[in-house]
Amino acid sequence: MQLSGSVALVTGATGGLGAAIAAAFAGAGARVIVHGRDPRRAARLAAQLDCDHVTGDLRDEPSIGSIVLQANAFHDRIDVLVNNAGIGHHSPFDRMTQAAIDDLVATNLTAPVLLTRAVLPGMLQRGAGHVAFVSSIAGRTAVPGEAVYSATKAGLDAFADALRLEAAGTGVEVSTLVPAVVETGFFATRGAPYTRSRPKPRPANDVARQLVSLIESGRPERFSERGLRVAPVLRAAWPAAYNAMAGRWGERTRLRGGDPE
Ligand SMILES: NC(=O)c1ccc[n+]([C@@H]2O[C@H](COP(=O)([O-])OP(=O)(O)OC[C@H]3O[C@@H](n4cnc5c(N)ncnc54)[C@H](OP(=O)(O)O)[C@@H]3O)[C@@H](O)[C@H]2O)c1
Repeated sequence: MQLSGSVALVTGATGGLGAAIAAAFAGAGARVIVHGRDPRRAARLAAQLDCDHVTGDLRDEPSIGSIVLQANAFHDRIDVLVNNAGIGHHSPFDRMTQAAIDDLVATNLTAPVLLTRAVLPGMLQRGAGHVAFVSSIAGRTAVPGEAVYSATKAGLDAFADALRLEAAGTGVEVSTLVPAVVETGFFATRGAPYTRSRPKPRPANDVARQLVSLIESGRPERFSERGLRVAPVLRAAWPAAYNAMAGRWGERTRLRGGDPE
């Protein structure tokens, strides 16, 4: 799929990676529609990029339908959907509230599934389209302190892989971008800074360009750090060794026990 001339809806474009993706798509000649939850920020970004914008909270099913209606009103089609919006959460699992769990699942997993269901009929009718998912290395490696976040991204990966198989021969392509650590407000928003020295945070513009080349290449997935592809391979092939290594050198968050504060 060539982005030039395509109509592309980018969710979470008011955030760091989404804004960079929207700019990179515009640079590649796409007619971008940016999505944001905050109307003023979405409108400001659209003015900067000279593109259209739509608004809505992705945790709310009627609002997902409204986002797709608003987007279709501009060009009567969506050729590329980038499911980028997402939130993180960092704490021992036994300190998580039900509200935090619900937010993660609704934003990171249910919303991209429902948005995809809403845009697919048009793509299938035209025999062309591309659905891209912004996943995370956490979904491939399973990170302590990010148990539910990891689960939402692993679920997204499985959904994308199954959808790609179902879409074979229809002209609709499905891709997954697997970022490691990106320089955005993600860690500030989740309330826990990134403290590890590796993998090194990568500028959002770099990762956005990776998504452009992924979509234009027709490949199914791309890791932001190619070296990290080894971790999920080891985890799948040799789980005992992977767990021993992750327990020794990985993230140190552990369950607390006792009553939640
Ligand atoms: N940054 C990283 O290191 C990293 C690593 C791996 C994967 N990722 C993934 O990359 C994607 C983009 O994250 P980012 O780094 O750009 O973080 P970010 O700067 O915090 O941006 C997140 C975006 O998602 C939007 N969003 C969150 N909840 C929403 C909701 N309920 N409804 C509508 N929009 C909502 C935010 O809108 P508001 O501003 O209105 O909240 C914002 O536009 C996420 O899927 C994340 O999981 C990030």
